[in-house]
Amino acid sequence: MYSVKTQIFTVNAQEPDKAIISYAVEKLGKGGLVAFPTETVYGLGANAFDFEAVSRIFEVKQRPSHDPVIVHVSSISQLDSVACDIPDIAYRLAEEFWPGALTLVLSKHSKIASNVSAGLDTVAVRMPNHKIPLAMIEVSNLLIAAPSANLFTRPSPTTAQHVIDDLGNHVDIVLDGGICSIGLESTVLDLTSSSPTILRPGGVSVESLKKSITNLKLNQHYVDTYNGIAMPSPGMLSKHYSPRASFLLFTGNCEGATRRLLETIAFLVSHGYKIGVMATDEDAGYFSEAGVEVVKLGSENNLSEIGQNLFAQMRNLDKLNVDIILMRAVSSHGLGLAIWDRLIRAAEQHVYDLDEPINIDIMDEVIKQK
Ligand code: TXA
Ligand code: MG
Repeated sequence: MYSVKTQIFTVNAQEPDKAIISYAVEKLGKGGLVAFPTETVYGLGANAFDFEAVSRIFEVKQRPSHDPVIVHVSSISQLDSVACDIPDIAYRLAEEFWPGALTLVLSKHSKIASNVSAGLDTVAVRMPNHKIPLAMIEVSNLLIAAPSANLFTRPSPTTAQHVIDDLGNHVDIVLDGGICSIGLESTVLDLTSSSPTILRPGGVSVESLKKSITNLKLNQHYVDTYNGIAMPSPGMLSKHYSPRASFLLFTGNCEGATRRLLETIAFLVSHGYKIGVMATDEDAGYFSEAGVEVVKLGSENNLSEIGQNLFAQMRNLDKLNVDIILMRAVSSHGLGLAIWDRLIRAAEQHVYDLDEPINIDIMDEVIKQK
């Protein structure tokens, strides 16, 4: 395993210190790994033209080599050195959404290291809306390959401390630029298929993309959720973004829903489980007497706030060593679809409808299996 003494620098996100940026870039040029903030989540960066450096990303994240990573650019003109046969729509979307949380999948340029795209002939690229990575790319001649800077399967990091918790002593430099403003990863849009297709919902909403793309498609996994129905087979999605605790997701808003949720909690507490609840500000009060750890996500009317806090609160509950985390789903509109995606993945198959009586015995079995 790639092991180093990690250096941590606090960097002003509005006006990054040039000396620190140069130092970080020098490390990247020598094949090192530099973690940096973006507006979505922290990235674990390596020189996108350096096969060895990119292979270190996979090694320290313990990420399977078949999962490709995103190349980060600082200008639209750099697209030419990442991709080839670039369709007009890519330039149009880049003009409109970059810098920002939209990743475009295009045909790969041969200069990009093959492990960046896990051997595929496509490559994912985005221009982050954050001065620290933009400065790093601008002062170097490098493009930065970077997945989220978490251990594979752990929630994505939204602070430098999350990166250090997961990857400390396996990354050369961590640039601490504070909390990520979006807190959820970018939207991944495939422009190599016949219709532009969202592969992963993220920081740019389906609704805003639809305004610019008439034939926009949503990967089949997300269609039902987008239409307001819980996905029938979340097991189809690979496990990702998970807290260590079992995660149970609840839908349903009927009158008795809160009562059913409290009964479920009481049952689990009586079976000796330590319970954590992730609640909206509006709901948090319901759980104050339930003998559980409650963390607040923000107002149910402010999905941006919930998105920003989601991964951080999963990590906070893990630190409290809860066995099970319960959460009620939020709206699946706008940023809500990205939130839903992360929740469904965290919950694997465990989605329960509070509008129906809950079969608690089945739930107990599910938890014991974990
Ligand atoms: O917001 C973000 O996208 C963050 C920041 C650091 O930019 N990065 C991030 O990277 O979330 P990562 O590696 O955790 O997720 C990249 C996603 C994965 O779902 C991967 O499968 C997909 O992008 N992806 C990358 N290259 C692809 C390609 N050539 N074709 C299809 N999907 C691709
Ligand atoms: Mg990731």
